[in-house]
Amino acid sequence: MNAADSTFGVDIEVLPALPHVEGDPVFAEPWQAQAFALAVRLSSAGHFTWTEWSHALGAELRAAAERGEPDDGSKYYHHWVAALERLVTSRGLAGAAALTVRKEAWAEAYRSTPHGMPVELKHTDLRPRFRQTIRTADGEEVEIVQRRAHLSYCHSGCCCGDVERGYAPVPVDTFKQEWLRRRLRRIVHLTKGGCLGPCELANVVSLVFDGQSVWFHSVNTPELVCQIFDYIDMMVLADRYEPAPPTLTPYVFNFYDWDARAGR
Ligand code: FES
Repeated sequence: MNAADSTFGVDIEVLPALPHVEGDPVFAEPWQAQAFALAVRLSSAGHFTWTEWSHALGAELRAAAERGEPDDGSKYYHHWVAALERLVTSRGLAGAAALTVRKEAWAEAYRSTPHGMPVELKHTDLRPRFRQTIRTADGEEVEIVQRRAHLSYCHSGCCCGDVERGYAPVPVDTFKQEWLRRRLRRIVHLTKGGCLGPCELANVVSLVFDGQSVWFHSVNTPELVCQIFDYIDMMVLADRYEPAPPTLTPYVFNFYDWDARAGR
């Protein structure tokens, strides 16, 4: 097919160094075709002319050459995406911060998805990440990504999980599986740890969400662990702390005396 009568509706001959066969672009990966189609779609929608797109892409390719990157075409669509990001942010079609959040979300979704499963985004994956810069004792500035919640469960204390002393085993695998499956890594920090204090209530779990503390005892079954994660999911979707649902209230207690002191 000749570029002049391209079914893409654009003149691909003006594009610098485009990998093509007999006038048709060729793609090594599906995402490259998607990036190509996105530029065509945005141009045909009037957000930029095809000449402007050609110039933007050319600028990215020249910058890569000046950085000494090999000109073998293997990174062509990386430069394509870089030019696209530069154009959409300069035209106000998307904010740089929003692009960063989305890229981080896809990277996290990829890391969290079991092998062989489709990588998908949940809408909660697109929440902005809050960061804080801390100066350490030796003067170094360290940036941390802040989490919304912390789920800790006692695994190796004197009582929790000690079946030889008559306590139920801790459903360790379920904690990790549910945390990964629900893609909560960016929102909830999970700790498998030692004694949390109220040993005689084994098996003990502590949840802090938006600064509010909830304790659970007798978390002996995978089903109960799933209910705790359902509760966390519910608060994430509601975007606020909520009291534990009725199914969990028989397991809720408060290890600290804050409530009693507040009333004094
Ligand atoms: S042994 Fe689990 S809370 Fe102490």
